[in-house]
Amino acid sequence: MDKLHEIDQAIRRYYYSQKTISADLIESILYSVTAGGKRIRPMILLDILEGFGLELTNSHFDVAAALEMIHTGSLIHDDLPAMDNDDYRRGRLTNHKKFNEATAILAGDSLFLDPFGLVAKTDLSSDIKIKVISELSFSAGTYGMVGGQMLDINGEEAELTLKEIQKVHANKTGKLLTFPFVAAGIIAEQSEATVSDLRVAGELIGLAFQVRDDILDVTATFEELGKTPQKDLIAEKSTYPSLLGLKQSHQVLNDSLDKATAIFQKLQEEQGFKSHKIVEVIERLRLNG
Ligand code: IPE
Ligand code: IPE
Ligand code: MG
Ligand code: MG
Ligand code: MG
Repeated sequence: MDKLHEIDQAIRRYYYSQKTISADLIESILYSVTAGGKRIRPMILLDILEGFGLELTNSHFDVAAALEMIHTGSLIHDDLPAMDNDDYRRGRLTNHKKFNEATAILAGDSLFLDPFGLVAKTDLSSDIKIKVISELSFSAGTYGMVGGQMLDINGEEAELTLKEIQKVHANKTGKLLTFPFVAAGIIAEQSEATVSDLRVAGELIGLAFQVRDDILDVTATFEELGKTPQKDLIAEKSTYPSLLGLKQSHQVLNDSLDKATAIFQKLQEEQGFKSHKIVEVIERLRLNG
């Protein structure tokens, strides 16, 4: 089974499931969603579900799709002129450049709101759905990604301390990256102790992921990133590399990845969790340097 294809199918199913109100809106949404992101968040969810021995169903792909939709909405808004003002994303023009700002704002709005209905309509038990929807809302909204984006924007003028940057990263990126770890535990009906281990692993990967993004902003090319490099430098953003330098940033990245891997090794030893797929995802986040 091609999981990436199934995630895309779930998103398309949603947008073709009812009589269209605005074809322009759906065109703009699908332009960004199908532009070919890495899909790391939904893949983490699906790989952990498989690690717990679940056979993947359309309901699981719908939850994975819901997560990718919110993430894509966050990118569309992140790129707006009032935010990071970026012209390229996922190797194409940003949504507001391709269409216009109003369309990009509305596409983001849709991508933030549609996922909750999508999860609500899956065949998972009501108990699981309420927990997943609640977790998704807290990861994405005021207590998660949006809250972190506010800290990030307000931090642009200031020189943040390491503790302050940690808080920005933990919220703007960490919370939505933690969601698939926790949601997989909820869907696979794991104990509270296991869900809590998964949350810690998610927080570690969430931090690692933004530190990696900050490193790549300095070191990678447009072709590698599909977005304009050195934007953080130009905006004089406080980042891990700007505060700690590249060498120490690599250490933080590797250290977080090692710790997360150890959690999955423990789950494997203690409860027969099959960790190879998720460990592979984690290993792919390493950078040479
Ligand atoms: C970019 O996320 C924004 C951050 C949170 C660092 P990704 O690196 O996952 O972007 P896509 O989905 O692959 O485009
Ligand atoms: C984005 O962080 C975090 C989001 C919530 C979208 P960045 O602003 O560093 O992401 P890129 O570098 O534009 O992808
Ligand atoms: Mg940003
Ligand atoms: Mg940005
Ligand atoms: Mg960045």
